[in-house]
Amino acid sequence: MDKKKIKKEYYNKIQNLIKLNKHYYELSKPLVNDQEYDKIKKQLLSLEKKYNFLKSEDSPSKIVGFKPSKNFKKVFHRVSMLSLSNAFSEEDLINFEKKIINFLDESKSFKVEYSAEPKIDGISASLIYKKGKFVTGLSRGDGKEGEDITQNLKTINDIPKNILAKDFPIEIDIRGEVFIQNKDFEKLKNKFANPRNAASGSLRQKNPEDTKKIPLKFIAYTYGYEKGIKINKQNEYLQKLNEWGFKTNPFNKTLQGVQNLMKNYYEIEKKRSELDFDIDGIVYKINSFELQKRLGNVANSPRWAIAHKFSANNGVSKILNIDIQVGRTGALTPVAKIKPINIGGVVVSNATLHNEDEIVRKDIRIGDTVVVERAGDVIPHIIKVDLKKRTKELKKYIFPLNCPSCGAKTIKEYNSITKKKDAIRRCSSEGYECEKVAIEKIKHFVSKEAFNIDGLGKKIVENFWNLKLIRLPQDIFNLNFKKIESLDGWGRQSVANLKYAIKEKQNISFERFIYSLGIRHIGFENAKLIAKTLKFSENFLNLSDEIKLNDLLNIDGIGETQINSVKNFFLNKTNLKVLNDLQKILNIKNAIEIKKDGLLSNKIFMFTGKLNGISRAEAKSLIEKNSGSIISNVSKKLDYLIVGEKPTKRKIEAAKELNIKILKQSEWIKLLNKSS
Ligand code: IVH
Repeated sequence: MDKKKIKKEYYNKIQNLIKLNKHYYELSKPLVNDQEYDKIKKQLLSLEKKYNFLKSEDSPSKIVGFKPSKNFKKVFHRVSMLSLSNAFSEEDLINFEKKIINFLDESKSFKVEYSAEPKIDGISASLIYKKGKFVTGLSRGDGKEGEDITQNLKTINDIPKNILAKDFPIEIDIRGEVFIQNKDFEKLKNKFANPRNAASGSLRQKNPEDTKKIPLKFIAYTYGYEKGIKINKQNEYLQKLNEWGFKTNPFNKTLQGVQNLMKNYYEIEKKRSELDFDIDGIVYKINSFELQKRLGNVANSPRWAIAHKFSANNGVSKILNIDIQVGRTGALTPVAKIKPINIGGVVVSNATLHNEDEIVRKDIRIGDTVVVERAGDVIPHIIKVDLKKRTKELKKYIFPLNCPSCGAKTIKEYNSITKKKDAIRRCSSEGYECEKVAIEKIKHFVSKEAFNIDGLGKKIVENFWNLKLIRLPQDIFNLNFKKIESLDGWGRQSVANLKYAIKEKQNISFERFIYSLGIRHIGFENAKLIAKTLKFSENFLNLSDEIKLNDLLNIDGIGETQINSVKNFFLNKTNLKVLNDLQKILNIKNAIEIKKDGLLSNKIFMFTGKLNGISRAEAKSLIEKNSGSIISNVSKKLDYLIVGEKPTKRKIEAAKELNIKILKQSEWIKLLNKSS
């Protein structure tokens, strides 16, 4: 089938889905049953998988979770639903209390009594009861006007539908939080980003039957409009809520003094990981309703309450297990599997432990309660262990002495520069001999800066590995496309695309080729330097020759560590086979630079000593911009030795002996000025 036809078929199906969605979500008159609808969605997804040129904003892959309805009736709240101002520190709390005392014109010694309530991170709702009967339920909306979600709220077990208690007010809006427990969110985590979204999404379904499928909870904490309430304090109100059949937060407390608020704050923050629902702070409310009335509101929030937020990027959790991942260079990275926890809106279940030394330094053990930090896109990590929570039976963690992938001994290398053992433990097998290392090496081989093969991402490499389609990099150029075409998710077109992408990359630049081999310590910059120096790929393939190898030491930026690594690379038989096979398959472009005619062209420079007002890196780039080049050892090739402060005398002497011109920094600058 040609591309045009496939596209037409796909967009017709998308149009049909839009129509079905409209009838289901907005008009509540489904045109097809659930099974039929799921079938249509599946067909679209598999078309997209097969042909990667098919894309649409209305694709079922783009619409996550349930689409909330736009069509709820709008209703005004009889008393607005306010929001809370935030406090982040003890100082903020001191100021909050000061302002209250000033406003009430009380003396400094006035004792303010607070109701301290953990702040559940869910969706607030207002439940209107008339003569004890739940009649209408509203979402918060913009605080003034909410949506009528009565039918959905009625599906929640925690919400009493009829209250018979004699002291229940004749009319009242009971307000509280709708939320989902973490254990229930686990089952929905493919559909929603976090428990809050899950609660919000399911609460706003057009069809209450969909809401019912999700075990939503309700905790009550305040009221809006009321007629006939006979209560004077918030803590008494919370007590009454229980008697009337509502759930309240078991960690609510009545407290006095900022110090006690802080103590409670830390205690609850620590308990956070043990709770089965997300809290993002503590709400403090002046306990006395009379004082609340006197204090009133500012703009959108009450003067009598404040939310003391937990730090947005920390959380407390428990280590369930420690996994060891094996990287491309054999490095063993321990990863803590932690009890899933919501940190700043993202559910975190893994945290890196960096390396063996980190585990030893922090004495991290399986079963420990730990503080986890997640900042930006950085992988979450463990800040500290809560030793008070450690129980006797937790044993010190012993790092594996054998590679979990291939069983080879693991080693810690000695670093001759720092004169210390490396922090990282590595698998001692030479490379492709270890399965995990081999897979990572192949992933590196096809990665962006290396061969950059379109459509051959990390997941596909893993998949091909598992199917034994690849074992070494060269296998990529010899894939069994017939077999791939028969795999789930592949079709004739996507296989043709992959075939083309691979063929295209058989022409490769010398520097990319060197980088793709994944030689330890040879990153992209070093690969570029080596390519530039060796110029022809044959020179690289002959690098096992010790003399040629030592020539590389002349490159500014390449040191002994790199040379040793290249040496080791050539000592391994599998690497030689990889090189040999790739050489036959690939067309590696030589790295011959086109020299400009700058005055420094063909001139070779070297620095010794510290330059004034200019970094080595900038000096180097200045020379290169003017078509000169740099080496790091005195040899006959050298044209100029540039001498800064505290130079190495030996180098100057060697240069003199070879009759090489010696320049002061100022003389070199003059030369540069002439050339530009
Ligand atoms: S009292 C005027 N109490 O926090 C008082 N709110 O930013 C406002 N919340 O929309 C409500 N736990 O969704 C109150 N114990 C609690 C609360 C609480 C959570 C939420 C609620 C509100 C938001 C205010």
